[in-house]
Amino acid sequence: MVPAAGTGMRVGGDLPKQYHLLAGRPMIRHAIEALCASPRIQRVFVVLAERDEIWERFDWTELGVKLSVLRCGGATRADSVLNGLEAVSAVVKADDWVLVHDAARPCLSTAQLDALIEQVGEDEVGGILAAPVADTLKLSTPGRRIERTVSREHLWQAQTPQMFRHGLLREALSRSRIVTDEAGAVEALGRHPLLVASDASNLKVTYPADLVLAEKILLEGKGA
Ligand code: C5P
Repeated sequence: MVPAAGTGMRVGGDLPKQYHLLAGRPMIRHAIEALCASPRIQRVFVVLAERDEIWERFDWTELGVKLSVLRCGGATRADSVLNGLEAVSAVVKADDWVLVHDAARPCLSTAQLDALIEQVGEDEVGGILAAPVADTLKLSTPGRRIERTVSREHLWQAQTPQMFRHGLLREALSRSRIVTDEAGAVEALGRHPLLVASDASNLKVTYPADLVLAEKILLEGKGA
């Protein structure tokens, strides 16, 4: 499931960022390509804002029959995901796996996707792609001076896809929607999702500088 109902404009341009062109194609197209191409994934649902008029401007037929569009985006990312999970509940069983992936992560590689699916396997809880923190971390005072250095040991940057069973994720998101990722909602249930090691190539595009880097990764071939 790919929530794409955001209006993210920090990246610049006239269009919501999921439609920003990267290597000649909309960002979301790259984000869903690896999912549509994977023989392990049966269906790909894109969650759009109800009044999205841009999706139809592009031709999606090359991605095949797995792809379906749901026009049930919500006010927040978590709302969009929950609405999407509810919309597919007639065709997705409670114990089926769902991978939630951001439209703003266009560089997901087949190797990263396969590692997530293989390592989560039949895990009780589920898991996410994440990168170990590489930088030294500073905690700031309100005046933007360094209060102290925070140990980066055991710290990870959460990425997507995030893989959970439909029933668990639906329950988690309906209980706590003030979360910035699916794992956060599952953690709030007292569960501990698995971290599957990824790397910085699966970056989230937020600012204009991210576009340059994402395009470079796409043109040079996605990382392992
Ligand atoms: O803005 P941000 O980068 O956090 O968005 C992450 C993903 O969530 C994007 O794919 C965006 O389109 C999606 N989103 C959504 N519904 C919202 C807000 C964001 O589907 N209301």
